[in-house]
Amino acid sequence: MSRIRFDEEQVAIYRGRTPRSEELWRKTKELIPTGHAGGMGAFHPYPIVVERAKGCWLWDVDGNRYLDLRLGDWVLIHGHSDEEIRRAVYEQMGKAVQVGAPEWDLGYRMAQLLVERVPSIEKVRFFVSGTDANICALKLARAYTGRTKIARSIGGYHGTADELSVGVSVLRAREETVPLGALVRAEEEIVQIPYNDPDGAEAVIREHASELAAVIIEPVMTAAGMLESTREYLQRLRAVTEELGVILLFDEVVTFPVAYGGAQVHYGVVPDLTTLGKTIGGGLPVSAVGGRREIMDLLEPDAHGGSAPVSIMSTFGGNSASLAAGIACLEKLTPEAHQTMNRLANRIRTHIDGLGRRYGIPLHATGIGNLIGVHWADERVVDEPTLRRDDREKIQNINLVLDNEGYYQTFTGLFLLSTAIGEQEVDGFLHAFERALLVLGYASEPGSDGDRDS
Ligand SMILES: Cc1ncc(COP(=O)(O)O)c(C=O)c1O
Repeated sequence: MSRIRFDEEQVAIYRGRTPRSEELWRKTKELIPTGHAGGMGAFHPYPIVVERAKGCWLWDVDGNRYLDLRLGDWVLIHGHSDEEIRRAVYEQMGKAVQVGAPEWDLGYRMAQLLVERVPSIEKVRFFVSGTDANICALKLARAYTGRTKIARSIGGYHGTADELSVGVSVLRAREETVPLGALVRAEEEIVQIPYNDPDGAEAVIREHASELAAVIIEPVMTAAGMLESTREYLQRLRAVTEELGVILLFDEVVTFPVAYGGAQVHYGVVPDLTTLGKTIGGGLPVSAVGGRREIMDLLEPDAHGGSAPVSIMSTFGGNSASLAAGIACLEKLTPEAHQTMNRLANRIRTHIDGLGRRYGIPLHATGIGNLIGVHWADERVVDEPTLRRDDREKIQNINLVLDNEGYYQTFTGLFLLSTAIGEQEVDGFLHAFERALLVLGYASEPGSDGDRDS
């Protein structure tokens, strides 16, 4: 963040419209490192502090209104305070919020909704965070295969478990591969495979096959830039893991809403295990691990003479209020809802590519479904090496202008649509995006002076 030069005029505009945010953020930082209770991300010069939200809108403590394209860190697929979800949670609060017993019928209905739509899921267990779900999935893969190592793609993010944080740039302040505080030996358990390179990935998997329990992959590498896999890449991972008896684990914590049934439906590739989180809880914390019956039954005592080979506890996994919210959320996440979001997101991607062509600048969009990444690089960004050539300074400055124009997002060129966003909001966003290019001098109307940065 510190190496980025921000447009001084835009920083001044930001400061001018958000003084109360700065004041309250600084006050919070005295008690909470980062000043954000969840501690996600860094903003320049400081984050807005939110007062309330409804539908697709957020209001900050200075009274500014924003279209929310960050969705509560990629969670609120129906926007804020959705009526059906709110009603379901209120009703459940009056019945039971958290019970230390099987209940009827929230767990069953939520499981059914996932089993019905996600092809790889025959059985499912619930947790709280995406990190929890991935930790459980890795344990299942190790127990099932009797091997210990995990292959993961270079540049992918799967949460903060020690072995999954190896090599992840956002989790380390310095150049070490293992983030400070994580077990150094975690590095020995990880094998890195190149993203979107079927031959390269296959070679690494073959080399380590005898020690490899699982390959974990996001079908769209999301935090790294909404970089969609090619179908060929995922098909190759499926074929080689199947042949070598390695578990293929799709981390669909973010990608679940790209299609009805997740990215695995979009690509037509069925993994052995799938992890879910974020969206599926309708705004409350729920995550899940699901997959083939024989793997999931490692958690089932009755399938193993009364003692489950893998035993994992989660106090809040299956929390009743969260499941009620999740059920209400999934029930209205219909094929038609996906279709509308995808159409609007395609419009945005196509328009941004068009702006790149119109102004002769290397601007382009990536992603599938409701996930949109924006890049500024001569070569289309498709993996970690091409991502390195992305001009992050331009992207972050564009994001700063968008924030000043009332479009809230991650500040990293990543935008997500919810079902609460319509044509009109998309029109506004696209106009604001073009204005940002012109205001910053990154693009100029044909016939005028040209790019002031070049
Ligand atoms: C793909 C992916 N997997 C797992 C996680 C971890 O989820 P959580 O933050 O709920 O632990 C994230 C979080 O952003 C993620 O993007």
